[in-house]
Amino acid sequence: MKRLLAIMTVVFCFGVTAAFAVDGGALYKQRCAKCHKDGTESSKAGGGVVLKGQSSGEISMKMNGYADGSYGGMKKKTMIRIASQLEAQEIKAVAEYIGSM
Ligand code: HEC
Repeated sequence: MKRLLAIMTVVFCFGVTAAFAVDGGALYKQRCAKCHKDGTESSKAGGGVVLKGQSSGEISMKMNGYADGSYGGMKKKTMIRIASQLEAQEIKAVAEYIGSM
């Protein structure tokens, strides 16, 4: 019985962790694609920047920079709002997704 309980605990914890793991691609589609499209376009809404081709390190550095005020251009207000709404793990996941485009 004890052993069954232990197995169930492990399975349960694993399920919870998986549920909290952030899907960078889905997050991008929901929260970024409106302006940045598929990442290749330098659209006006996206501030004329092309995200595709940038490494995940560059993206997370820029996102964290928007959030703490150390990075940004003419239209940074938009990104400051967006970046500061994201959790650290969401920034990491979305940066990894963009890095893999
Ligand atoms: C409402 C439109 C909008 C949305 C939504 C949006 N962005 Fe932006 N993004 C911009 C604008 C405008 C800029 C240019 C800001 C500036 O002047 O610094 C920008 C710039 C950036 C940059 C800096 C690129 C560079 O090379 O300087 C990154 C990285 C970025 N966005 C990532 C994201 C991510 C990731 C998301 C989704 C979580 C997102 N953006 C959602 C409008 C948007």
